[in-house]
Amino acid sequence: MRRIIFSLVAALAAFALPPAVAEDAYTPTILVTGSNRGIGLALAREFADAGWKVIATSRNPAEAKELSQLAKKNRRVRVEQLDVTDQAGMRVFAQRLNGAPIDVLFHNAALLGDREDTGNRKQQFGGLDEALFQRVMHTNVYGPLKLSEILVENVAASRQKKIVGMTSGLGSLQLMGRMSRFYYYQMSKSALNMGFRAMRNDLKPRGITVAILAPGMVETDLLAESGYSGRALKPSESAAGLRKLVEALTIDDPGVPVNVDGKTIPW
Ligand SMILES: NC(=O)c1ccc[n+]([C@@H]2O[C@H](COP(=O)([O-])OP(=O)(O)OC[C@H]3O[C@@H](n4cnc5c(N)ncnc54)[C@H](OP(=O)(O)O)[C@@H]3O)[C@@H](O)[C@H]2O)c1
Repeated sequence: MRRIIFSLVAALAAFALPPAVAEDAYTPTILVTGSNRGIGLALAREFADAGWKVIATSRNPAEAKELSQLAKKNRRVRVEQLDVTDQAGMRVFAQRLNGAPIDVLFHNAALLGDREDTGNRKQQFGGLDEALFQRVMHTNVYGPLKLSEILVENVAASRQKKIVGMTSGLGSLQLMGRMSRFYYYQMSKSALNMGFRAMRNDLKPRGITVAILAPGMVETDLLAESGYSGRALKPSESAAGLRKLVEALTIDDPGVPVNVDGKTIPW
């Protein structure tokens, strides 16, 4: 009888995948918002090249030529339409995912709000514009928080369970206390830090890591719009650094903003 039971157990063990093989076969998935250009596009490329599955989202995939080319070359990249200010659209998108696990939900999309060279003062003292305030805060703060809420079960269903908010040194009082050109953008990154810190406290008991990372100064449209002309990283350099940080994140992450070079950004 004992021999029969032993043979039965051995047969069942042979039928199941050996744990080491199952582990190796697992391909993690990252979702990147705003991945049609700039750092988002570089992140999609970086993670895809590193063997990840990438759900690369864009407000307007039909116009996202470089992203389409990336997806054509790499079948691990799946392009999806997503506007982080469109709540109904976010819910439809979540239904389309149909419970698919998301190891890393990377909130990259954001808006500076105004070009420095237009002479507009819509987010400067004397010209403060409410509609622009709503747009910047909705895109940069509420959007990432709400999308996290909508997709939390996808993240919880994954192995790595990570949510990343993209902040900026412009959200730091200590670093940027004398800057006053982009009120709303600066405020949005401070608010994102606090929102993600609060969300971290709520999601940690579920084993979900919520982190706040910054890309450094990076040569993108957003940086050009800001009027900055100093030294900056290439998007690919920033994305490579961000991938290292994302892969190293653990549930014990302290939940403070960290720059791409690994240095903590003071609040
Ligand atoms: N570049 C820097 O030096 C720097 C420094 C610090 C922090 N950051 C942060 O890094 C992130 C990426 O910045 P970037 O420099 O790559 O900016 P970017 O070149 O201006 O790209 C911004 C991306 O966000 C998308 N986006 C804007 N509004 C959206 C919405 N409502 N829904 C979905 N996507 C939306 C844009 O899509 P469309 O093409 O459709 O507009 C675009 O794909 C941002 O969070 C930014 O604040 C950048």
